[in-house]
Amino acid sequence: MAKLYDLQGKRIFVAGHRGMVGAAITRHLNQRGMEALTVDRTELDLLDQAGVKKWISENRPDVMIVAAAKVGGILANDTRPAEFIYENLVIETNLIDAAYRAGVERVVFLGSSCIYPKFAAQPMSEDALLTGPLEPTNEWYAIAKIAGVKLAQAYRQQYGCRYISAMPTNLYGIGDNFNLQGAHVIPSLMRKAHEAKLSGQAAMEVWGTGTVRREFLFVDDLADAVIFLAENYDEPGPINVGVGEDLTIRDLAELVCSAVGFTGTLEFDASKPDGTPQKLLDVKKISSLGWKAKTALDIGLAATYEWYLANQGELRL
Ligand SMILES: NC(=O)c1ccc[n+]([C@@H]2O[C@H](COP(=O)([O-])OP(=O)(O)OC[C@H]3O[C@@H](n4cnc5c(N)ncnc54)[C@H](OP(=O)(O)O)[C@@H]3O)[C@@H](O)[C@H]2O)c1
Repeated sequence: MAKLYDLQGKRIFVAGHRGMVGAAITRHLNQRGMEALTVDRTELDLLDQAGVKKWISENRPDVMIVAAAKVGGILANDTRPAEFIYENLVIETNLIDAAYRAGVERVVFLGSSCIYPKFAAQPMSEDALLTGPLEPTNEWYAIAKIAGVKLAQAYRQQYGCRYISAMPTNLYGIGDNFNLQGAHVIPSLMRKAHEAKLSGQAAMEVWGTGTVRREFLFVDDLADAVIFLAENYDEPGPINVGVGEDLTIRDLAELVCSAVGFTGTLEFDASKPDGTPQKLLDVKKISSLGWKAKTALDIGLAATYEWYLANQGELRL
């Protein structure tokens, strides 16, 4: 199938290149001999509207991938709602408007599966967007991300911009955030299992009942999907990026313990929030374009733990 847009030879600005997702995308672009433009937060704060406009108009990217965002787990989302809604709205608005004004040809905006309603039918198709109430613990982040999807759509509708949105499922992998105050479930479990193993603990605590179901995609697979979509997807609606399979948090915790080599027991703390009962993306749309995730969960967890051990000095803890 002929590509709708060829990234080869284009100047591709990856916003958020130091984050887990942005770093994976930058790595994959470089591996394919493509040019990734990046700028550190110390040189450009994406909350600074005038600064973002100036940088984009001076650096003239052809393509922009929006992997910059204020990101965190349930605890961070629930306790710092103002930061999550404000910073995400401002970052995406600054970037997308500046891209349009500088004539950027393609934008890939990254949302998240938490934009779908808490009780959306499973697996969640792209049509579930705005059909019901959101999960309250991360609604601030979700509202900002929905606004980002709508921004990309509005600029397409009014100005004909070829801007698209991709909705990844829960991600994990190289470069993840292992800070227990802000981390997602896999890095939290991995760090706890690692520390429990080192200190010879008999048991490890896991938040929630362990019964809710989640889907996890290795971040290198997401990077591959983003590059694929930039070249092969050009519709106004968002497109899901997932594996198409989920598992319980109990099964996940067991897989993480096995990757880490922690052999103690798991204690589930049901007083901690579980979040949405199930989160599984319907991946028919991206599958029909010919893209599929490649990395099995046990392989991805082993690669993540190997990286965690080899990069102790550089971890986000
Ligand atoms: N992680 C997941 O499970 C997941 C799942 C679905 C979707 N996503 C989406 O993927 C995207 C990236 O997530 P991630 O996990 O890679 O997050 P991350 O590791 O926290 O990376 C976020 C990046 O954004 C940058 N950033 C935030 N605020 C900024 C600001 N004011 N100015 C400049 N840079 C700023 C950060 O810069 P610093 O490095 O300087 O802090 C960092 O590089 C987000 O849109 C997220 O919604 C993630």
